[in-house]
Amino acid sequence: MKPRIYITRKLPEQIIDGLCKNYDVRMWNQEDIPVPREVLEEEMKEVEGLLCLLTEQIDESLIDKAANLKIIANMAVGHNNIDVISATKRGIMVTNTPGVLTETTADLTFGLLLATARRLMEAEDYLKSGKWETWSPMQLTGQDVYGATMGIIGLGRIGEALAKRAKGFDMNLVYFNRSRKYEQEKELGIEYQPLEKLLQISDFVCVMLPLTPETAYMIGKEQLELMKESAVLINTARGGIIDEKALYKALKNREIWAAGLDVFEEEPIPVDHPLLTLPNVVTLPHIGSASIATRLKMATLAVQNLMEGLAGDTPRNLVVVNKSK
Ligand code: DGY
Repeated sequence: MKPRIYITRKLPEQIIDGLCKNYDVRMWNQEDIPVPREVLEEEMKEVEGLLCLLTEQIDESLIDKAANLKIIANMAVGHNNIDVISATKRGIMVTNTPGVLTETTADLTFGLLLATARRLMEAEDYLKSGKWETWSPMQLTGQDVYGATMGIIGLGRIGEALAKRAKGFDMNLVYFNRSRKYEQEKELGIEYQPLEKLLQISDFVCVMLPLTPETAYMIGKEQLELMKESAVLINTARGGIIDEKALYKALKNREIWAAGLDVFEEEPIPVDHPLLTLPNVVTLPHIGSASIATRLKMATLAVQNLMEGLAGDTPRNLVVVNKSK
């Protein structure tokens, strides 16, 4: 009997072809509807390999249902949807898809920054709704990006790729990270600053961190209060890093100038969420990595990881638990 694999969302046939030869592949056959929890719970009982998306919460109770499970391959670089500690304790490998989405996500981040700074969505709405009657001096004026200071919180792969784009706009670059990145400081001309200082001096604050217990709500009322009134906050990492209630108040009271958000504490963000009522927020439905080529690369990499783990090898993108936890 072939070992059983479950894939939690419909993936293109060419991506899963290689799997079907050697494995009994079952898949949730919908593109835009996540697999219901009860279906996943049932499937977990039989599977040896699971390929999942960031929309599935792979928590301890789910992992406990999977007596034969060897590997969980996430089709995302972020893996906060998986209880990696519980999986690892049970000898189950967890993998992610780093690298392949770096440039695509950095492109989107810079695009969102420009759209927020220059009020592109508001401007388009202004035009389409017939409000545009004349050109006027201060109409729809925004913040300059060229030559401004960008503060990057989290100088990982995507943070670095963002810094490279910012250099093309002659921006002054500062960063905050758990550890200093001396090589990147030299290469990119980026300067390390403590978080408080970065928040005080940056015109654009870009959150580029993974969501972990340490980074949850890292940007709250206190941090927002340190930012300039003209500052723009950008988040394409994970929603839970910013306290959305505090952000709403800061934006509403114009304590900061605007925010560009691709990620939210709850996804999809409810359509009646207060943040969506503000004119100075640009929101996107978590599309950082959404180019055709990149999504195919992510799916391919997740399949490769899955096959390597099931073959008894160490998968190329094994997520290693921080030993101090
Ligand atoms: C990730 O990979 O973690 C992104 O959020 C989706 O591409």
